[in-house]
Amino acid sequence: MRYSIRMPTNRIINVELGDRSYPIVIGRGLLGGGFDLQPYLAGSECLVVSNETVAPLYLDKVMVNVHGCSVESINLPDGEAFKTIETTASVFDKLVASKANRDTTIIALGGGVVGDIAGFAAACYMRGIAFIQVPTTLLAQVDSSVGGKTGVNHPQGKNLIGAFHQPRVVLIDTATLDTLPDRELKAGLAEVIKYGAIADVTFLGWLEQNMPALLERDPDALAYAVQRSCEIKAEVVAADEREAGRRAILNFGHTFGHAIEHCQGYGKWLHGEAVAAGMLMAAELSGVGSVELSRLRRLIRAADLPSRPPAIGAQKMLAAMGMDKKVLRKTLRFALLHRLGEATVTSEYDETLLRRILEAAD
Ligand code: NAD
Ligand code: GLY
Repeated sequence: MRYSIRMPTNRIINVELGDRSYPIVIGRGLLGGGFDLQPYLAGSECLVVSNETVAPLYLDKVMVNVHGCSVESINLPDGEAFKTIETTASVFDKLVASKANRDTTIIALGGGVVGDIAGFAAACYMRGIAFIQVPTTLLAQVDSSVGGKTGVNHPQGKNLIGAFHQPRVVLIDTATLDTLPDRELKAGLAEVIKYGAIADVTFLGWLEQNMPALLERDPDALAYAVQRSCEIKAEVVAADEREAGRRAILNFGHTFGHAIEHCQGYGKWLHGEAVAAGMLMAAELSGVGSVELSRLRRLIRAADLPSRPPAIGAQKMLAAMGMDKKVLRKTLRFALLHRLGEATVTSEYDETLLRRILEAAD
């Protein structure tokens, strides 16, 4: 049965981190006059970090959310290829040129690339200034804007340079998804599917029923998918902020996915597309039964996401996977499934099976 869940006007989920706790506010029409960001600023000055695609769509609206403050802005070049230390340096240059102080707040307006760079700049500038996430892609709304992971890529690996730095608030206006290209929407659905696979099989069932509505951009279905994803992420982050253990389950499919992105060259496959193929490789490595594997594959295909990795080569993939941040004492660790809806992080996996999975993709 297909069903939808009515959303209240605004939904607030708290990320419980003691004195660094913060709300995730979800609603339609929050940009512009819909939500006052001023109480979350460190002072009366802010720098909006956006990019050349998103700023023309939403910068004016964000200005209304911080009405009365002194606002500067910088637009970064668009794309994963620009998630670099050099781009971050351009944000530092802007902060210095604006004479930004410790009471300046950075507002990240954009997808995960903008959010990761802006958050990293906020973590470093003057050893840490306040920042706010205003995510505008589905992927950023359900994942990258929550939890305080910030950073950039290194030529040798994805997200290798970074810091944990929590935002003061995450403001999710689901109306921004109206302008998101279809391919980006589907990439975001990969991370949504991830939450069902690792933590909530009931949600996975809801996704199976509602995938057509999500692809048709039904506002209630999208709002519920964002809400449930953020609830799961908030719970995992609150339990393990710095990824000492459990948080690494959020990386389900990412060890393979990051390697695909790295080996192909950033931007060829979107992050979510690489994660989709990576989740199926990880599910296979988990040794879940064929029924569960087929169920996950069907859902990924229903979201029009890749269910097979590109032909990269097992050796190249293994070398890239060796740069994964979960590697400890030179041993790979994977987020694997006990069953759909339940995941764990482990260095105990079947090496022969891993090689077979990687070789099957050659
Ligand atoms: P992205 O930031 O590149 O955005 C995708 C594209 O959509 C870009 O061209 C962007 O300009 C455009 N765009 C953004 N919002 C739009 C809108 N509302 N309307 C029209 N166009 C819009 O990609 P992404 O998928 O948002 O993020 C991927 C990045 O997030 C990767 O670098 C990944 O490593 C990172 N990430 C970080 C975390 C974390 O915890 N920090 C988690 C997951 C992913
Ligand atoms: N996206 C993985 C994490 O935030 O831990």
